[in-house]
Amino acid sequence: MQFHPKSCRNEREVESKLIVQYLLPKLGYSPDNWYQEVIYGNIRLDFLTIASKKIKNLSSCVVIEAKHPQENLDHHVRRLGHYLMKTKSFYGVLTNGKEFRIYQREKDKLKFIFYCQGENIANNIDKINSLIGKESLSAKFSTSQPLSVPQVSQPSIKEFKKLPMKVIAIYHHKGGVGKTTVATNLAAAFSNQGKRVLLIDIDAQANTTFATGLIKFQFDDDDDLKDKNVFHLLESKVNSISDIVRKSQGFNKKEIDVIPSHIMLIDKQNELARYASSRSRLVKKLELVKQEYDLVIIDTPPSLDLYAESALTASDYIIVPSDLKPFSNQGLLSVKNFLEGPINDNRDTLGKPPVKIMGVLPSKISTHHQFLKHRFPQQRQVISDRYNFPVMENMISERVALSQCINQTIPVGELEIPAPKSIFDYADSVSSANTSAAEFESLAIEVLEKIGA
Ligand SMILES: Nc1ncnc2c1ncn2[C@@H]1O[C@H](COP(=O)(O)OP(=O)(O)OP(=O)(O)O)[C@@H](O)[C@H]1O
Ligand SMILES: [Mg+2]
Repeated sequence: MQFHPKSCRNEREVESKLIVQYLLPKLGYSPDNWYQEVIYGNIRLDFLTIASKKIKNLSSCVVIEAKHPQENLDHHVRRLGHYLMKTKSFYGVLTNGKEFRIYQREKDKLKFIFYCQGENIANNIDKINSLIGKESLSAKFSTSQPLSVPQVSQPSIKEFKKLPMKVIAIYHHKGGVGKTTVATNLAAAFSNQGKRVLLIDIDAQANTTFATGLIKFQFDDDDDLKDKNVFHLLESKVNSISDIVRKSQGFNKKEIDVIPSHIMLIDKQNELARYASSRSRLVKKLELVKQEYDLVIIDTPPSLDLYAESALTASDYIIVPSDLKPFSNQGLLSVKNFLEGPINDNRDTLGKPPVKIMGVLPSKISTHHQFLKHRFPQQRQVISDRYNFPVMENMISERVALSQCINQTIPVGELEIPAPKSIFDYADSVSSANTSAAEFESLAIEVLEKIGA
């Protein structure tokens, strides 16, 4: 069996034609020596090979990550490193069919040990075999540990497990702090990491709906959201998530499921407020899709209204984006009162534990060197010392790429049609967006660690 990169037109084909049909057999792995879509703690690996089941840890395993042929592999190296750290395995493959790379982990660093173009994989198969083939890894790890590899306590293969769906609200009572920017790009980061993501917009401004490419219509008559949006989930028992959900449009190479919002939410609030049941409806509807998604991200309005209440009542965690300025800080007190009052009361009635504050996420943070060195650490400290909120380790800097990516358009005749992009897709064509993309990727890793703990 030969392999031709041109036969891989998408990620599925890279997985099936390159990895399953060509590479794994060539490297000596039979179907009972490899696993696809492996859940390990809170991460999902595309493939994991096991050189020898006699070796009771993952050191002889190879993590293989397949990407779409148009994906830039550089964007996935950090994540591969995280997977190798988490599984404590030493070898990782990253390929999009056009390029083929092998990495080796040394402590917490990744070393690039092999590269070739897709069309040269067959010519290099002996070399690849000597690095990550079943026989060579089995021999290497069943005798003594290789010199370059540290002795570490390693998890057992039995630890593979499925993490239950988690719901995370991106919330702050203060407006304009970056909630929508964080919700949309974090959802894209998770989706790019292979998570099954549902993004819910429950803000009447519908900015997440716009950002994910669902508001491209120019005239009221073309509004295809008015009869199917988040209001229809809250209003009655009848509509389910699958009745309302849309695929994101042109936003991110890996599409995301989105529950859109609509400006009509403003007028409908009084109607919903008459029925106490509307506040718990989202919880119940999410319960019905818990097998279909790994993560649900909810973008919320900057208020304490019924929509915010519904969203937070349905959430296991909240992330609070904040520019760390005085008004945002003072708003944290009402966030806390809101959570400790109506939200946790609602959750208690529904038999749910209190919502967890994952942390305040420093957002729209100046990249000015002096600021970052002196003032920013003080600002972070104030959040934990004075307001008693945890602070996320990662932050999102203020960068024009993050506001530009949402404002992309394409000309159609005389009109400019919105064509918003995730920061990851934008980074494919605008290199200055790479830093922000990396910040979101790193944030996603922190969030996964926090929910897996
Ligand atoms: N890190 C950032 N760097 C640069 N611009 C940003 C950043 N985050 C957000 N912005 C810009 O700031 C504005 C407000 O951001 P965003 O809409 O995400 O905030 P929000 O908290 O959702 O606002 P609202 O409370 O109105 O829903 C937008 O124009 C957005 O493009
Ligand atoms: Mg918003």
